[in-house]
Amino acid sequence: MPEDFQLAQAEMPEPGDGEFLVAMRVGSVDPAIRGFLDDRPSYIEPVALGAPINGMSLGEVVASRNPDYPVGTLVRAFATWQDHFILSGDSWGLEKVEQQPGTDLHHYMGALGPVGLTAWVGLFAVGEAKAGETVLVSAAAGATGSTVGQIAKARGCRVIGIVGSAQKADVIRELGFDAAIDYRATPDIAVEVARHAPDGVDVYFDNVGGEMLEAILPLMRLHGRVAVCGMIGQYNDADHPYGVRTLWQLVVNRIRMQGFITYDYPHVLAEAQAELDQWVAAGKLRPLANLRDGFENLPAAFIDLMSGRTIGKTLVRI
Ligand SMILES: NC(=O)c1ccc[n+]([C@@H]2O[C@H](COP(=O)([O-])OP(=O)(O)OC[C@H]3O[C@@H](n4cnc5c(N)ncnc54)[C@H](OP(=O)(O)O)[C@@H]3O)[C@@H](O)[C@H]2O)c1
Repeated sequence: MPEDFQLAQAEMPEPGDGEFLVAMRVGSVDPAIRGFLDDRPSYIEPVALGAPINGMSLGEVVASRNPDYPVGTLVRAFATWQDHFILSGDSWGLEKVEQQPGTDLHHYMGALGPVGLTAWVGLFAVGEAKAGETVLVSAAAGATGSTVGQIAKARGCRVIGIVGSAQKADVIRELGFDAAIDYRATPDIAVEVARHAPDGVDVYFDNVGGEMLEAILPLMRLHGRVAVCGMIGQYNDADHPYGVRTLWQLVVNRIRMQGFITYDYPHVLAEAQAELDQWVAAGKLRPLANLRDGFENLPAAFIDLMSGRTIGKTLVRI
């Protein structure tokens, strides 16, 4: 609810030795933030009541006491929802951004940034997708899903996307997916996936978890891989997680199911970034963005994202 958020003024922070002050230019709006707002352990500490929300940010260095990050440097990092914030050289997820002429800055927070890297790491480093294999992705018209499908196609995979509306199905077909399934218009998702993947699924890139995961596991091929990127279907009701009843299939078909956090794979990020840049330049990866303007609109954009209405990456430009 909008009234659960508060816009607060604070003193402008001053960088200490080795630190730099960043002015936010593009704020990333992510489902993971929903988890950070629960008072339970996760891969970061819960956001304390009254404290600024954590999220990925792209910004410009405006004051610096770190010679590696002079004024004018563009950086992205895991930061907080503040229009100015302090970073240091070892901040989590810190990367310099080299904006290419003609490329909008917001794409470096989308397909040319964390979204693209998440899709690449999950699909290739975790899922080990190879040319000729069948890839299935849920939330396929979303930020991550729409990127997964396109980069899987770029590497020669067959791609099936699962989405929540006829409009989203049209969007992903237009992006080049081989098949699109609207789960809301399908009485039995397993029957529909099996129709499009009669020999089974090699890689399931899971964004949703819950009943969808339960339905897909029996459709995996021998030695299939499930790259668990997220479980958005569970985030709003974390006290009542869905009990997936088909886990025995992991044994039957020797399936490897692995969760991942993108920035745990620093050794592949440069390779991933280079390939994403090439695919965008070649028109093989078309970034989809759901843009809003104004720092004060971060909460509204977040509520929009969690409603399931959005297509592509939800971002706020400042
Ligand atoms: N592991 C990592 O490092 C990492 C990094 C980034 C994101 N993620 C995860 O990747 C997943 C996708 O994130 P994203 O940023 O790309 O978001 P997104 O897909 O752009 O947006 C979320 C979409 O999820 C679908 N959805 C399914 N069940 C939902 C529910 N109960 N409530 C709301 N939406 C629901 C909706 O699409 P439909 O209408 O098609 O159902 C919605 O549009 C999330 O699980 C997120 O946590 C993980």
